Amino acid sequence: MRARKKLNIGLVGYGFMGRTHSNAFRKVNNFFDVAFEPVLKCVCARDGAKADAFAKQWGYESSETDWRKLIARKDIDLIDIASPNDTHADIAIAAAKAGKMILCEKPLARNAYQAEKMVSAVKKAGVANMVWYNYRRVPAVTLARQLIGEGRLGRIFHYRAKFLQDWTISKDLPQGGAGLWRLDVKVAGSGVTGDLLAHCIDTAMWLNGPIDKVTAMTETFIKQRKHTLTGKVQKVGIDDASAFLARFSNGSLATFESTRYARGHKALYTFEINGEHASIFWDLHDLHRLQYFDHRDEGKVRGWRSLHITDGDHPYMKNWWVPGLQIGYEHTFIHQVADFLEGLDTGKMPRPDFRDGLATDYVTDAVLASAKSGRWVTVKKPK
Ligand SMILES: NC(=O)c1ccc[n+]([C@@H]2O[C@H](COP(=O)([O-])OP(=O)(O)OC[C@H]3O[C@@H](n4cnc5c(N)ncnc54)[C@H](O)[C@@H]3O)[C@@H](O)[C@H]2O)c1
Repeated sequence: MRARKKLNIGLVGYGFMGRTHSNAFRKVNNFFDVAFEPVLKCVCARDGAKADAFAKQWGYESSETDWRKLIARKDIDLIDIASPNDTHADIAIAAAKAGKMILCEKPLARNAYQAEKMVSAVKKAGVANMVWYNYRRVPAVTLARQLIGEGRLGRIFHYRAKFLQDWTISKDLPQGGAGLWRLDVKVAGSGVTGDLLAHCIDTAMWLNGPIDKVTAMTETFIKQRKHTLTGKVQKVGIDDASAFLARFSNGSLATFESTRYARGHKALYTFEINGEHASIFWDLHDLHRLQYFDHRDEGKVRGWRSLHITDGDHPYMKNWWVPGLQIGYEHTFIHQVADFLEGLDTGKMPRPDFRDGLATDYVTDAVLASAKSGRWVTVKKPK
């Protein structure tokens, strides 16, 4: 075991992601031999009593109700942004100016304009940064990248991704406020495009390279909803469903689809990649499996193989239990923290960094622009 240096964490937001991140910071040293030890120094949220209760439950030493005060504290090394999308840019830019390392939830920002400013800020400050696109670190997804990198699929022809949910079908569901900020365009930036497809796009570009062009359609099925904060019925500005076609730089074609109106699906994220020699399919509901078909297998036994990604030679798995026993969703965050801490030690920082987050925001912006214009849109690339 290596000697460990302390890394003081200041977390913003104690919701869903605040919990996954806190869990990761707490567990990483139990399972990964890394040279840093995250210290849960402070949690920040607007409601002081709730922040205190969270601090007690998760073992944070203190709490703040204003993220500016958190950033000003000398005893904080890293700002972890786990608050809604409209807060990311201001917090990250201020944290970078204060010389703090930054972990930021996805999407990096509400749009690429804001994300560009965030990339400039971390570049100028020279601070370590990463975006929580955690699905890259599902062992089966990491393995998919290794198989593609080894050339096992050969030339790639098709990429097909879906992210389906069904929780906003009721017309009586309000928009805005705690738990429902995703329906408020001013806070979220967009609907399923920035929330769900952003995950699919990040994974896709990691596995299959940059996206050059998109043509999209979006729909808002429920046009008006009561706003939780104002009590008034207001126009809904988010996309409830979004589908787009894409061309990757490597010549492959893609379809992406996302909705919160697919009755029966809670978080069905799937992708399939078809190459010249082999195909891969992955499904979040069965996340420890990778489906693999290799045309080069002997004909008699050729078919889809369901690989159980639990063996010691599978990505990350030697750090967990014994072969055959599975891990799950929360472990992807632990893997991300482990890789980040390893990067701090070696100086080779892992990705996705803010620049990668911006690349995804360029795609989501292009998708929304295409849905508006009805035309193909060329995707900008980060400089
Ligand atoms: N990586 C993933 O798979 C994943 C999953 C869910 C959410 N997210 C992202 O994480 C972020 C948070 O989402 P969530 O689901 O945890 O939301 P949530 O609503 O569960 O929690 C948001 C938290 O932010 C706090 N907050 C809001 N405004 C604040 C402010 N000005 N200062 C301090 N705290 C503030 C709220 O009090 C709450 O504690 C979003 O950007 C979202 O897109 C990512």
